[in-house]
Amino acid sequence: MNHQVAQGKGFGKTILFGDHFVVYGLPAIASAIGDQTVAKIEQFEKMEIIDNKPATDGYKEKKAEEIRREFDALFRYFKINPNEKPLKITLEGNLFCTSGVGASAALATSVSRALNEMLNVGMDDDAINKAAYIAEEAGSGKPSGIDNTCSTFGKLIWFKKNIEGEENVIEHIDAKEPVGIVLADTGITQITKDVVNDVASKHEQDRPGFDDLFNEYASLVSEARAALEQGYWEKVGQLMDKNQELLAKIGVSCDEIENIIRIAKANGAFGAKLTGTGRGGYVIALAPGKELQDRVATAIEQAGFKVLKTTIG
Ligand code: MEV
Repeated sequence: MNHQVAQGKGFGKTILFGDHFVVYGLPAIASAIGDQTVAKIEQFEKMEIIDNKPATDGYKEKKAEEIRREFDALFRYFKINPNEKPLKITLEGNLFCTSGVGASAALATSVSRALNEMLNVGMDDDAINKAAYIAEEAGSGKPSGIDNTCSTFGKLIWFKKNIEGEENVIEHIDAKEPVGIVLADTGITQITKDVVNDVASKHEQDRPGFDDLFNEYASLVSEARAALEQGYWEKVGQLMDKNQELLAKIGVSCDEIENIIRIAKANGAFGAKLTGTGRGGYVIALAPGKELQDRVATAIEQAGFKVLKTTIG
């Protein structure tokens, strides 16, 4: 028995602009967050997956089927037959798993990196990103690829999905300086595929209405990129608020999200919106400076929600 343990990591992410719109080929701005999922893989006498990741209540149960499809896709991709070559896979790390933080992409990336190391495939980051996307596709339908891209490259990025299937646009953005954010967990886990499909049927029913929203969003996201690069945080915050209005219009907000946004704004956040799938999951609040970040985080926490303080850019 070979007891060498291969290890891989994948970052969590937060979308600043463009959740859902990115699926339709509009540009989005997203950042990796420092927290990561770590996968450790070794050969073993039987197949075993031990999930020690910290997670919001009910997350692991609700996501079990999605995660199983991700693993199946990764085993196929790496040509592993778990019956012939059983593995012990341990998942851990400090990424608190909930909807909106790119937890399934972090899993796909970390496992791809660990399998790459174990099997000596010699994949570079682009190849890891592709493998993680294939897993995400198996797990959650037709994802844009923004989550695995953040998870793999770990930066603040401008991402535009190529809806014809060619290469996506991935550009690194240099924010003027690192800026504080607060991520707040509604505690509600959503199945990304279901929410994305729901938006798709709304899109089918009202193409002209969606075209108007897409146009409004397209100019908003360009302004947001410039404001991030110049460090105009008030402007970035205002644009996040506008993006949230558009997200509410496509039906992906919910009372818990709106409640957290109200608390964040009442305590001085420059802007706040849902991040990721929506209808639960995480809210991102822009809170430059440690004092403001602490104030916003404490107020949200006092209202009973878990928070994570970090910086992006
Ligand atoms: C999920 O983290 C982000 C969505 O835009 C879906 C996707 O981009 O694949 C909702």
